[in-house]
Order: sequence, then structure tokens, then C-alpha cells
Amino acid sequence: MEQELEKLNHEAVEALDNVCNHDQLEAFRIKYLGRNGQLNSAMRRLGSVGKQDRPRLGKLANTIKTSLEDAFVNKQHVILTTAASTDSTTPDLSMPGRRAAYGKLHPITQIMEEVCSIFANMGFSIAEGPDIELDYYNFEALNIPAHHPARDMHDTFYISDSVLLRTHTSPMQARVMEAQQPPLRLIAPGKVYRCDSDITHTPMFHQVEGFLVDTKVSFADLKGVLSVFTQKIFEKDIPLRFRPSFFPFTEPSAEVDIACVICGGDGCRVCKKTGWLEILGAGMIDPEVFKMVGYDPEIYSGFAFGLGVERIAMLKYGIDDIRLYYENDLRFLSQF
Ligand code: DAH
Repeated sequence: MEQELEKLNHEAVEALDNVCNHDQLEAFRIKYLGRNGQLNSAMRRLGSVGKQDRPRLGKLANTIKTSLEDAFVNKQHVILTTAASTDSTTPDLSMPGRRAAYGKLHPITQIMEEVCSIFANMGFSIAEGPDIELDYYNFEALNIPAHHPARDMHDTFYISDSVLLRTHTSPMQARVMEAQQPPLRLIAPGKVYRCDSDITHTPMFHQVEGFLVDTKVSFADLKGVLSVFTQKIFEKDIPLRFRPSFFPFTEPSAEVDIACVICGGDGCRVCKKTGWLEILGAGMIDPEVFKMVGYDPEIYSGFAFGLGVERIAMLKYGIDDIRLYYENDLRFLSQF
């Protein structure tokens, strides 16, 4: 019986040594220390040993039981603490942090800021005007009287007979000149509105107007400023072409093309095989506009230009559908 108890003790100690999780520990408890476990059944058998051996063997059995129970509690403690450190609810301080999602400026805002900073570096200041504009500044003061055919091109959203959503940023020319004296060197970025929508038009889009008024300003100055601008915004030396055009508020007027940024001027689908892409309208400010703001056209001359920000962004990034900018699809927007 003594040998049997020693063997049981030896076996149990070894088994407990091999326990490494909670399930194994419970299995150990049932097998050795449980009510019907091996230790208890050995103790029950003590009743059948001779009287003279019983106290000694009883004492031995009790010592084994206490020491196994102590060892069991120790093991339980070890398993509980290691389990806690790998438990998913306990933070693992060695894990890399989760990145916070952060917002970005809309690509159009980015290009607007870039355009503004290029002109700011050439000494232009920035002026902003109202989106809801008077017919007077949007048209009259720019030499586009009522019933002038040029009004047709603007697809105007009227709010009342004399109030509208500005169709271009050119009204800022009249507003600024009315309020300030030359020399002037300004740009006016902002939203403009036209009742028009297809792959190259949205009812709201962005323009940057620019103008410079001083004595002895010439068309060569306009060319110089626009060459620097296109070079900077497209980050390369791009040939420019001035095509004669008409705007009621400039004389002479031009539409300005750059050599196609897609094919380099060879002719492709984007430039419709011409090798050129129109990027802006420009010209020398019409003496009629000067007269309306009270400047003497004999003394002052100036140039003005107006560019479409979406158009510049489309050419710079090679995007062929303007509506992508306004669908708020993060897969598109997050690329910029
Ligand atoms: N305002 C014109 C438009 O939206 C663009 C424009 C053309 C602006 C010639 C100018 C200019 O300042 O000189 O179509």
C-alpha cells in the first residue's frame, strides 16, 4: 500500500508538471484530486489495511494529498496569469498602433491653392468676392449690356432680374477696380455656376481670375506671366499658343492653349488630334471696362485672364470625366 501511494504521488507530480492549460488542469484535478479520483479511492482502501499500519499510511496519504493540493493551487495560479497576458481583452503593448483615418484637401482645393501660390509668388494679391452677384458686376460692368449675345454663352442661374449666381470670376475685376486705384495685381479664386452638365461641365465649378493694371502694360507682360504659370503648374516647359478670340471685356482677346500634355503635341484623342489644349481665356482689359470704373484708358492699361481650375486639374492628373471630382468617392479622392 505504501508503494502504491508513493507511485501515485510520483505519477501525479509528473502529470501536473505537464499540465499547460486550463482544460488539462481540470482533467488533472478530476483524475487525481476529485471525489472519485485516484487519491480518494486509495484513501478509501486504507480501511482494509492492518490496524498497526493504518496510522502511518493514513498520515502518508494525507501528506501526499496536501502537497498535491498545494502544487495544484500553484499551477492554477501560473495558468491563470499566463492566460491573462494572452487574452484578447488585455492590451498587448508591443502591438503597433492603429492608424487614425485622416482627411485631406479635395484635389480641386489643392490645385486652387497651388494656382494661388504660383501667382502670389509673382506678386499677385488674392481677393474673394460673393457667389451671389449682381447682374451689374457679372455683366454690365464687363461691357456685356442686357441683350448682348455674349450673355447666351453663360447659361445663367438667375435669382431675380438683377441678382444671379456668378457665371465667372470676372466680376471681381469690376469690384476691385471700382474700389482701388492702380497699380493693381490681383487674382480672384472662387466658385462659379452655370446651368450645364456633361463629362466636361458641372453646374458648379471653379475659376481663378487674374488681372494686372498699371501704366504701359502690354500683351508681352500677359504672355510672360502665363508662361511662368503654365511652366510651374505643369512642372515642365510647355509651349503656349495664343488664339485670337472674343470677350466683351478684353480687347484684343485670346484663348490660350498649351501643347497637349497627353501626347506632347503629336495629336491624340484628348486634344482631338490638334496637339493643343485650351486652358484659359485672356486679353487686354477693354477701355470700356476702365471707363465704367472711372480709370482713364489713356493712362492705364492692363491684362486679365480667367482659368478653369477643374480643367487644369483634369489635364494635370489625366482625368477625362469632370464629374468624378464631385461624386465624393473616396477611392478616387484619396489618390490625390
Ligand atoms: N470670364 C471668362 C469665362 O468665364 C474667362 C475670361 C476670358 C476671363 C478672358 C478673363 C479674360 O479675364 O480676359 O469664360
